[in-house]
Amino acid sequence: MVGRGLRLIRGLRLIVIRQLCRSFSEGNGVHRVLDAADACIHSAEVVAIVGRSGSGKSTLLNLMSGIDRADSGEVAIGGRIVTSMHEPERTLFRRAHLGFVYQFFNLLPTLDVEENVRLALELNGIRGATARERSAGILAEVGLGDRLHSAVDRLSGGEQQRVAIARALVHQPPLLLADEPTGNLDEETASQVLRVLLSLTRSRGTTLVVVTHDAWVARSADRVLELRDGKLIAGEAPLGRRGPDTERIAARRTGVS
Ligand SMILES: Nc1ncnc2c1ncn2[C@@H]1O[C@H](COP(=O)(O)OP(=O)(O)OP(=O)(O)O)[C@@H](O)[C@H]1O
Ligand SMILES: [Mg+2]
Repeated sequence: MVGRGLRLIRGLRLIVIRQLCRSFSEGNGVHRVLDAADACIHSAEVVAIVGRSGSGKSTLLNLMSGIDRADSGEVAIGGRIVTSMHEPERTLFRRAHLGFVYQFFNLLPTLDVEENVRLALELNGIRGATARERSAGILAEVGLGDRLHSAVDRLSGGEQQRVAIARALVHQPPLLLADEPTGNLDEETASQVLRVLLSLTRSRGTTLVVVTHDAWVARSADRVLELRDGKLIAGEAPLGRRGPDTERIAARRTGVS
């Protein structure tokens, strides 16, 4: 059952991906996207997933979160095998133990800022003053303490993404999955949002798996995994958006400093 909790000792393996396969039918053939992918991610690690467009990064995250079903292989999170759970266990597991941040925020426009965040607590049975205090607290941490009752569609893109980060972390999940969280933001806003994301996950010891094309995020991660030909391999931070370490990455890759 979900209430049994997860084994969350820092440095231990939190996520184990074994021989994970996922194909999609295409015309008369089959498009093999994940082809016996293997990986292991430790508790409190920040791991960037990179790979060219269409390499299967979102597919991988959807399998890790149990939104999609694998053809074969498995994903275990905290010793629980997500890939063999049935509904509603998968939904309850996802709600209690995972947080998500997407490229397009996915906030509910009929709820205000604080209500959007509080919903993640209410879905886990935390209500009333406790829920309101926790929502307000994390919104203050992401710099939106004075916008609690604003309509979400009145906020800027960066502010909306900070609400989404607060919503993803308010119930203190051990694992946060983020799929191109800055893909829809300009460079300066992206950099602010990423600093908030990394500082919150680092300070809470949350494991972060972030799909990104952004060199700065990948450089700030503990490890980069690249999806290539359906497999996860040790990767390097991509050259791209300029960040504090862009020159250092370029020098390391080219050997010229
Ligand atoms: N439901 C689906 N049905 C058919 N094909 C799919 C489905 N979902 C994904 N695919 C295919 O799987 C491949 C990988 O898609 P995915 O969205 O995982 O790539 P990605 O690495 O996230 O790309 P991007 O960087 O552009 O977001 C693509 O070729 C895509 O067309
Ligand atoms: Mg994608």
